[in-house]
Amino acid sequence: KLHLDNGRTAYHFQPAKFWQNDPNGPLYHNGLYHFFFQYNPHGPLWDTGKLSWGHSVSGDLVNWAFLGTALDPTDPFDVNGCWSGSATVLPGGRPAFLYTGRDADGVQVQNVAFAKNPLDPLLREWEKPSCNPVVAIPADVTNNNFRDPTTAWLGRGGLWRMAVAAEVGGAGSALVYRSADFLRWERNAAPMHSSAAVPVLECPDFFPVVEHGSEGLDASANGAGVKHVLKLSEFDTHQDFYMVGRYADEEDTFSPEESERGDNCRSWRCIDYGQAYAAKSFFDARRQRRVQWLWVNEYDTKVDDVAKGWAGVQAFPRKVWLDSDGKQLLQWPVDEIETLRTKRVGLQGTEVKAGGLHEIAGIATSQADVEVVFEIPNLKEEAESFDPEWLDPHKLCKEKGAAFAHGGVGPFGLIIMASGDLQEQTAVFFRVFRHHGKYKVFMCTDLSRSSTREDVYKDAYGGFVDVDIEKDKSISLRTLIDHSMIESFGGNGRACITTRVYPEHVATSSSHLYVFNNGSGTVNVSKLEAWELATANVNVADADLAAL
Ligand code: FRU
Repeated sequence: KLHLDNGRTAYHFQPAKFWQNDPNGPLYHNGLYHFFFQYNPHGPLWDTGKLSWGHSVSGDLVNWAFLGTALDPTDPFDVNGCWSGSATVLPGGRPAFLYTGRDADGVQVQNVAFAKNPLDPLLREWEKPSCNPVVAIPADVTNNNFRDPTTAWLGRGGLWRMAVAAEVGGAGSALVYRSADFLRWERNAAPMHSSAAVPVLECPDFFPVVEHGSEGLDASANGAGVKHVLKLSEFDTHQDFYMVGRYADEEDTFSPEESERGDNCRSWRCIDYGQAYAAKSFFDARRQRRVQWLWVNEYDTKVDDVAKGWAGVQAFPRKVWLDSDGKQLLQWPVDEIETLRTKRVGLQGTEVKAGGLHEIAGIATSQADVEVVFEIPNLKEEAESFDPEWLDPHKLCKEKGAAFAHGGVGPFGLIIMASGDLQEQTAVFFRVFRHHGKYKVFMCTDLSRSSTREDVYKDAYGGFVDVDIEKDKSISLRTLIDHSMIESFGGNGRACITTRVYPEHVATSSSHLYVFNNGSGTVNVSKLEAWELATANVNVADADLAAL
């Protein structure tokens, strides 16, 4: 029963044991997907000096085989930890890593490593040239914050570029380095970004997107019809922020599309409003799409993690592309997840009245994929007006947003991982407010009743969904449920909230799923489909690799 009791997931990526954090160097090569990740091969807790790169491969982004570690802290330039970085496939097909090492003095430096044999489909062996570190810490970097190089891209003059997060004179920045040979790197005078008010940025991701359409681009693509996305992970808020903009490859500068949001990346858009962090994307040449990974930490206690013997989950890989508004990203679980769908239940044209609770029965809902569309018949009449004080979505979720409060339009949504007596339940829901003659759609995941345990983290997480609900007259929600993971996509992937839950009832009984409406009027579930998902094999034994 351990599998169900300890929150271990059934189809999200997890090594069999021990600690994992950031996704590192994802790549597609010779017919296989490679996934690397911050991994402590010695235990279930994060340990500054012990981090390696774990390595797994897959044929479908669903089932994975663990190959051990690809990088270990064994050399003077990384002996205190192989920290985060990225992969680049060099012309001719040789994959390379750029990664942060903590050197013998604990100083953060940038290193390279190359696949020893690019013809080995498993890319098991990696070599670190003796010219490492390739970038030493610059004199103006403060507090030893200098890390997490991006995938490199080819720019003007045929030179490679990479971006590295750095605290420069107290300002969180993304520095650009250029190289002709991938070994000697020179800093560009101007940083690509600098947030004066935010000291520590981590894990930058910088990638091109097509202006129209959903196909992905290789990191070096640029020109007409292409925009770029700069994503930064902000240490204090533990959130990933992004901005769409224009990249000028003469100067290696980035001009934000929404300059009105300012230079402080905390007021940019969020990749995920929940507990997901350190997003990293790659170009999937097999399916011509961009795929993004995201780490989701534990929010139980360290004692629990030691008892479980593992900690950390990856969000299900998401396809990412630019919305037709040219400003926001759309994120959606890669469609390979559908290979796990088994039993299906559905609703169509079901009215959920004020105070209504409608159970979705007939499938095991602790391991499910739920898609639902809510129609709001009386938006004009029932929407409450928005108070500008509520602009902080987290605060709004805690105070106004509570699923159990009674509102105008909403709260309505899903009640997930509920115990039979509803003592434990996690609500994922929307509320719609009127604001300056328009509407604001607010989305929230409220963990306050997710577990009867006192010692797990049970915050509420919220964000605004940038949709035109007046035109659409409906709002969609997709939620992936996987024991301790609840991953939600509002407005067809315009707002995402990923959280961990630790309900106690699962030790002795199964969980329930409901549609609910605590608004003052009726909402219609115009469509609901819920699938039970099969358990993926995320740790296929080495001997069974051929099965991938
Ligand atoms: C982000 C991070 C990175 C660092 C890595 C170390 O979660 O702090 O900045 O490289 O984790 O594990």
